[in-house]
Amino acid sequence: MKKPLLFSAFVMNTASHILHGLWRDEEGHQKDFNDVNLWVSLAQRLEEGGFDIMFFADVVGLYGDYRGDWKFHVESGLQIPSNDPLVLLSALAVNTKRIGLAFTAAPLQEPPFNFARRVSTLDHISNGRIGWNIVTSALENAFHNFGHEGLTKHDERYEWAEEYVDVLYKLWEGSWDEGALVQSRETGVHADPNKVHKINHVGKRYKVEGPHLVSPSPQRTPVLFQAGSSTAGKSFSSRNAEAVFIIAPTPDIARTVIEETRALAVQNGRDAKDIRFYQGLHFVVGKTVEEAKRKAAELDEKIDYHMMIAHSAGGLGIDFGHADLDTPIEDIETEGTKSILEWLKQSITGRKPVVGDFAELRSRSARIVGTPEMIADQLELWREAGVDGINVINATLPGSYDEFIDDILPILRERGLAKELEAVDGTLRSTLFGTDQLNERHPAAKYRGAFAETKVEQHFSG
Ligand SMILES: Cc1cc2nc3c(=O)[nH]c(=O)nc-3n(C[C@H](O)[C@H](O)[C@H](O)COP(=O)(O)O)c2cc1C
Repeated sequence: MKKPLLFSAFVMNTASHILHGLWRDEEGHQKDFNDVNLWVSLAQRLEEGGFDIMFFADVVGLYGDYRGDWKFHVESGLQIPSNDPLVLLSALAVNTKRIGLAFTAAPLQEPPFNFARRVSTLDHISNGRIGWNIVTSALENAFHNFGHEGLTKHDERYEWAEEYVDVLYKLWEGSWDEGALVQSRETGVHADPNKVHKINHVGKRYKVEGPHLVSPSPQRTPVLFQAGSSTAGKSFSSRNAEAVFIIAPTPDIARTVIEETRALAVQNGRDAKDIRFYQGLHFVVGKTVEEAKRKAAELDEKIDYHMMIAHSAGGLGIDFGHADLDTPIEDIETEGTKSILEWLKQSITGRKPVVGDFAELRSRSARIVGTPEMIADQLELWREAGVDGINVINATLPGSYDEFIDDILPILRERGLAKELEAVDGTLRSTLFGTDQLNERHPAAKYRGAFAETKVEQHFSG
């Protein structure tokens, strides 16, 4: 029996995330991103509609300059202003019961000790529904915002992330043993001192004594997402990720990334099925194919192609602001988002890629247009390619998700491509893997019980 696909809503706490320019549309309520009610009602709608995850992208700086300046990003609203998703998640956690809540953050942003504490707190608040999308941030401005001279080299950013997660695994999995939190009013023992440990991490970038200040949350470690498919990216995800986001131009290219990463996971002592893969797709649905095509043409009219180019090329640190759209893209070297460039080259066959293709990459090449039945047929092909879930990209909020829930999901359920609506509470990891905590094959598991010190006399042994 083929497993139903999982569904994630790919959003960002800003006015313009992926399909740029739609905030100007009267249906574009993403314009109201500062209003928490927009997100609370969307989270509740997604939960009722059968989505498994609400996934917040995030960046902590501006994309590379466009037309020689950064002002373009401010004027057009290209992911600035953007609010902190981790803060918003606490509001969503108390207004929902089942939907997974994933946010994006990079090691660049804060020391691991404080990050561990905030995430564990959120996992408690949400009863274990938190996911973390581990990114290394590819934006020079982001590195300047955190006091660095410039963008750390691509592969070095993944080395940095390795140490960062290593510290976090020690705090989340090793610092508090099972049953450490006692809270016995009778004996006065709040926690068993023999079961709480300092981690004394000393590494290339971090020195962290511990113990973790938060007692174990339902998942201990949030569900670990990752979205980099370069060689270093795949190597990192094969060791650490439980779910990988991709935006491959075709099911065949997705299959290659998936099989390569699964094979690497096995080489790292994990099981090939220990990682779920989510393909980023956008849908334009119509009662007839003609209606769908008409809606797609209308959408293309509304998309701001300069913003699309500034977004994709800006992630590579390249300014195509003055280039004609049909300017061939010669061999580009980047310390930015390597796999995005790879996917661009792979999505163009029979001719050299040109600047204009950057605008297509995130708009048309990740789009499925058709009736609900045609969309189901296409999703069948992505599932065949090994994709476990779809990261649904929106054009307008909440409209794109209302349409997906009302017009597309019912057909997908009929076809076994989506699971039946079921109000089952549980952790996010149980939705993906049926267990609350990381399995023994994950590198974080080696820290369980790893810090047991010599027994200390309890003060309150009464
Ligand atoms: C679906 C998807 C979502 C992403 N979300 C973010 C994000 O929210 N913030 C970010 O800085 N990078 C994001 N990225 C970029 C990745 O983190 C990474 O930089 C990019 O995929 C290139 O990785 P690579 O250099 O290992 O190939 C995303 C990428 C994909 C495919």
